[in-house]
Amino acid sequence: MAATVSDRLLEWYHGHARDLPWRARPGAPPPDPYRVWLSEVMLQQTTVAAVKPYFAAFTQKWPDVQALAAAPEEEVMTAWAGLGYYSRARNLVKAAREVGARGGFPDTEAGLRELPGLGAYTAAAIAAIAFGRRAVVVDANVERVVARLFAIAEPLPAARKEIRSRTDEITPESRAGDFAQAMMDLGATICTPRDPRCLLCPLAEDCDGRRTGDPARFPVKPPKKTRPLRRGTAYWIEREGAVWLVTRAGRGLLGGMRALPDDGWSARADGDGAPPFETRWEDLGTVRHGFTHAELELTVRRAESNAQPAGEGEWWPLDRLEDAGLPTLFAKAARLALA
Ligand code: ADE
Repeated sequence: MAATVSDRLLEWYHGHARDLPWRARPGAPPPDPYRVWLSEVMLQQTTVAAVKPYFAAFTQKWPDVQALAAAPEEEVMTAWAGLGYYSRARNLVKAAREVGARGGFPDTEAGLRELPGLGAYTAAAIAAIAFGRRAVVVDANVERVVARLFAIAEPLPAARKEIRSRTDEITPESRAGDFAQAMMDLGATICTPRDPRCLLCPLAEDCDGRRTGDPARFPVKPPKKTRPLRRGTAYWIEREGAVWLVTRAGRGLLGGMRALPDDGWSARADGDGAPPFETRWEDLGTVRHGFTHAELELTVRRAESNAQPAGEGEWWPLDRLEDAGLPTLFAKAARLALA
């Protein structure tokens, strides 16, 4: 049965693989590890559709890992703006430099795990896809397919252990990369979160979830936690066709990204509402943005000022604002200010 599932899936993949810019065709030799690594880091927490333009821009600007290793971190952060989860971009630069220094990518799962930002999933995916290693690759799509295939009744996250061992059982010795990507494609196109298209599924005969009559109930979700709502204020300070931008500190939320100055809000606490200086601030309204651990309601206040705000920052010309690499939250605030 184990061999049958992967055989059926690989046969289906041969005719139905999505054509993605970082991929080799089914059965072809592995693609460039740099492209695999870059795509996998970008795809963490992000959809294929959102990643495609970023992948194209990055590979055009930095065609190989040496080029990326030589790039100033700031430039990479700017190019990453809008993709979210910015610690991924900081780790991307660190890992590129490490790979550049050692003369190439490690070609095992364990070796890949040592690179900055590479967790269990990403290391397994790259080992399988770029180096043809047998590795057990479980992303959210695979998780859903396997939970249904074996009708795993335990809720997430506890179910992950069984999902992993079941995935291990059905992963073939060779073509583990094609197998992993076939599972992802099956999850993305057939075994979708709602209304799975079982009539088109190559694994329908193998699927315990389908036999229950309600495959969509797997994987069983944990009770929903609500994210706290945080409130903060950002300040749009304008002078002679330019706006005052700061660079956010190191590791925290949106760390290392250009931003509007604010009142110190974080995922853990509201801002204190204190403006950078006293003047007549005009309230422009609020924007909303969801982070992993909190929802933020950001009030945007505006002033024209000839004063130089305290601390480090730069006057950024309004007619080149798209080049500032503002993360989505502050891009929303800028749209409000410029409306
Ligand atoms: N999501 C993460 N990695 C992927 C890949 N290689 N193909 C399709 N979707 C993915």
